[in-house]
Amino acid sequence: MSPEAAADTDLVRACFRQPVSRTPVWFMRQAGRSLPEYRAARGTGSILAAIADAPLAAELTLQPVRRYGVDAAILFSDIVVPVHAIGFGVDIEPGRGPVVARPFRSAADLSRLRPLEPALDTPYVLDAARAVRQELAGSGVALIGFAGAPFTVASYLIEGAPSRTFTKVKALMHGDPALWGQLMDCLAAMSVAFLRAQIEAGAQAVQLFDSWAGNLSPGEYRRFVLPATRAVLEGIADLGVPSILFGVGTGELLSLMATAGADVIGVDWRVPLDAARVRVGTDHAVQGNLDPALCVAPWPVVEAAAREVMAAGADGSGTGHIFNLGHGVLPEADIGILGAVVDLVHAESMRG
Ligand code: CP3
Repeated sequence: MSPEAAADTDLVRACFRQPVSRTPVWFMRQAGRSLPEYRAARGTGSILAAIADAPLAAELTLQPVRRYGVDAAILFSDIVVPVHAIGFGVDIEPGRGPVVARPFRSAADLSRLRPLEPALDTPYVLDAARAVRQELAGSGVALIGFAGAPFTVASYLIEGAPSRTFTKVKALMHGDPALWGQLMDCLAAMSVAFLRAQIEAGAQAVQLFDSWAGNLSPGEYRRFVLPATRAVLEGIADLGVPSILFGVGTGELLSLMATAGADVIGVDWRVPLDAARVRVGTDHAVQGNLDPALCVAPWPVVEAAAREVMAAGADGSGTGHIFNLGHGVLPEADIGILGAVVDLVHAESMRG
């Protein structure tokens, strides 16, 4: 992939705060149960099996591009794919999320986290990336790769299931900071390997999902999470591909997240993008942040909210904003509304 080809998309230009032909838009979790074509293609098997089927994963990645005309495809995979692939014993339960048969409890569990060798452990993800990239060649649509940030992946490994309180995670990070540090280092190395392989297979931008970081205080984030997050982003910096760092409920963490080394900070719906810009500084683009819950509301409500996001996201020169939801598309989202949002953002931001 030549750098010229990579820069030839509005998404990549927006990440680098360069001029765009129009504001790029995509949706987190744009592939998935909200789409009838997804439900038809995917059937009822395990989502990890669908991810391991490269032609199917490539098709599921491309469905939302065809349906919505978004500016980016996000690889159909999951943040727990690497830990599943090395045999930690992770599964994804429908309607619930990742579950772990034997959660991470003590130093002995570190030996269950061997390094990831993407070409051997997750060849299907790389095959899907290559197929999608080939399909998108010349379309102006970028391929986004992704990984889980160390904290959010650790939260599943330690809690053993989705958690609201993160009690066991916090007990480990505060109670045994040395072991916590070792776990973060292992997971950071895994995310670096996974992202580098996706980039080499054709991903033109990457997103690091630290979805649950908003459950931490700024002090906890700075001490226990920021170093490993920074290590992931430093570990891919030489490849020159832009990075997006995203979490939910991170209003009080945005200024710290901005020191992690990402080009773009993803913002949920709780913080208006103009306020977020003040917190992350002028050297970052911002991504977001229409409330996903609004995507079931009547169109005039959504239109007004989307226009507000566009106004708050504009930095004066019309650069450095990637339109997205503030978190993933909900299964009950109205897909007609999502398509109308894409058209609105494109029409309203058309330059020249
Ligand atoms: O369009 C896309 O974004 C598709 C790719 C994608 C998936 N998971 C597929 C998936 C992405 C980017 C993810 C990331 C992911 N996985 C995150 C970070 C994003 C976020 O929402 O904050 C997290 C926390 C996970 C862990 C996970 N996997 C959860 C919480 C769930 C939901 C469980 C459920 O059934 O509601 C999953 C399963 C999952 N991963 C689904 C999809 C489309 C839904 C299940 C299915 O279709 O079978």
